[in-house]
Parts: sequence; structure tokens; C-alpha cells
Amino acid sequence: MTTFYTQNTLKNYVQTEKSAGKTIGFVPTMGALHKGHLSLVRNAMTDNDIVCVSVFVNPTQFDNATDLEKYPRTLEADVELLKTLGKNIFIYAPSIKDIYETDVEAEKFSFDGLEFEMEGKFRTGHFDGVGTIVKRLLEIVTPHKAYFGEKDFQQLMIIKKLVSKYKIPVEIIGCSIFREASGLAMSSRNERLSDEARKESAFIYKTLLEAQKKFGTKSAMKVKEWVQKQFNKHPLLTLEYVEIANIKNLKTVKRKSKNETYRIFIAAFIEDIRLIDNVALN
Ligand code: PAJ
Repeated sequence: MTTFYTQNTLKNYVQTEKSAGKTIGFVPTMGALHKGHLSLVRNAMTDNDIVCVSVFVNPTQFDNATDLEKYPRTLEADVELLKTLGKNIFIYAPSIKDIYETDVEAEKFSFDGLEFEMEGKFRTGHFDGVGTIVKRLLEIVTPHKAYFGEKDFQQLMIIKKLVSKYKIPVEIIGCSIFREASGLAMSSRNERLSDEARKESAFIYKTLLEAQKKFGTKSAMKVKEWVQKQFNKHPLLTLEYVEIANIKNLKTVKRKSKNETYRIFIAAFIEDIRLIDNVALN
């Protein structure tokens, strides 16, 4: 399995493979790979001849210096995991300089308001950082299809918007959330949880599923109040937000309509670690 550390070597390889008629799938990641990431790679392998996985902890999307510093960096283990999936995978693990040269700054984007909801309210500049890196990576890798998880549903919507606004010739594929046996959504951050916190964090998904049931008969406001109350009673988890939003524009649902599609989103802290999750409501 080849790991490319510079965009020039990667571009040469991609050019050769494309000239030979190969289709390219792309899975951007920040590494510390887990089964959630691997499920994206498997989808990409099914749809394409070869798959690029990028491993890059992108500094411009972190609004918190400690979070950036503590983000796990495990390239060797990541390469070993990817090897278990098959041969037609290559890795792009650039340095910060290869991506940003001397200017480690995010570009400013407008995503037609998607960036002001939920994560955008609580993580200043986050989606400018995500937009900057994903745009650059797509321009470097030039894949036919790129895969993003519904775990970061708002990010997925924003990437779709980015690609349509900048007319980047790639198909964006959303992939369902891969969960631990307890229901906790897989995340690189889960590794930092104590055993107890990891067990308790399954509460997030359990609450989302109960909220999903309640949404059949109750208003969005009532369901959110109910979720807030459940978290208030929980000894370890602190709710940052619960939101029920229309997936088209990610705006809060005021009155339900049969023709619209909604999801419920949660961000919560446990042991100072921030976890997010969401489920479809209809
Ligand atoms: P990262 O958190 O490493 O996630 C990489 C991809 O894996 C994202 O598309 C994310 O939604 C998906 N993913 C993570 N956990 C998942 C799970 N449990 N089930 C399904 N998919 C899951 O998201 C990023 O990195 C970065 O923002 C990135 C897009 C790479 C830009 O830096």
C-alpha cells in the first residue's frame, strides 16, 4: 500500500491511473481510523476501482487549541488497518506545509446559511476550516466520488453545497452512521473516554431513539424539552444542544409538515470530551 506525503507525487499517480481508465473514490479523514471510517472506505471500494484515503489533522477547523493538540495521530496503525481491507487503496498523508504552504488560514465561505446552524453556532470558524481543506483535497485528488459520514450530517450537507457552488466535478456520497454495540456512534474521540464514560455515552443514542418515537405524536418543541430533561437528570453528560431540523436547510422545525424530512441532532460533553450524534425522524 503506497502512502504519498506530497501532492505532486499523489497527482502523478492519480493521473496515470485515470489515464488507464480507473475510477477513483476518495475518503477524507483526520486519521485515528475506526470502523466508522472503514465503513466509508468499504463503500468507496465497492463503487470505484481504486480508493484514496487522506489522513490529515486539519488545524484550521479546530476552534480549540487543546482539542487540536490532543487529537490522536496514529498513521502507522491507520496504514495497518487499511491494509486489512484490500490492495486497491492508497493514502495521502500530507504535511501542513504541503496543504497550506506558509499560510495556515481558513478561507471564508458562504454555505447559504447552513454554516450558522448547530455546530456553526458552537464552533466558530469550524466550517470555514472544513470547506478550505475539503476543497483543496478534492482539487488535489480529483476523485470521481467522495464519501462522507452522516455522523457529521451538517458537514455532509455543507460539502454538497461547496461542490455545487464551486462546480467541483465529483459526486458526494453520504454514508450511514456506524455504531459501537452499545449504540454509541463510533468516533476517534471515544478512545479518550474512561470505561465508565464510554458506557454512559450510549445514553445519547438511546435518548435519540426515544425522541424519534415521541416525534410521531408530539411537537418538535416538546420533544426537545423532553430530551433536555433527560440530560438534566444524567450525572455525567452535559447537553450542549438538541436540535430538530429540516435536512434541506438545517433550520429549526417550527411546525411539522408531511412533505419535509427531519433529523434530530445532539452535541454533549462527557469528561470534557465533545460527542455528536443524530438520527432521522421521518
Ligand atoms: P473525521 O472525523 O476523521 O471523519 C472522516 C469521515 O468519517 C467523515 O466523513 C465522518 O463523518 C466519517 N465518520 C466518522 N465517524 C463515523 C461513524 N461512526 N460512522 C460513519 N461515518 C463516520 O470529518 C472529518 O474527519 C474532517 O472534518 C474532514 C472531512 C476529514 C476534513 O478535515
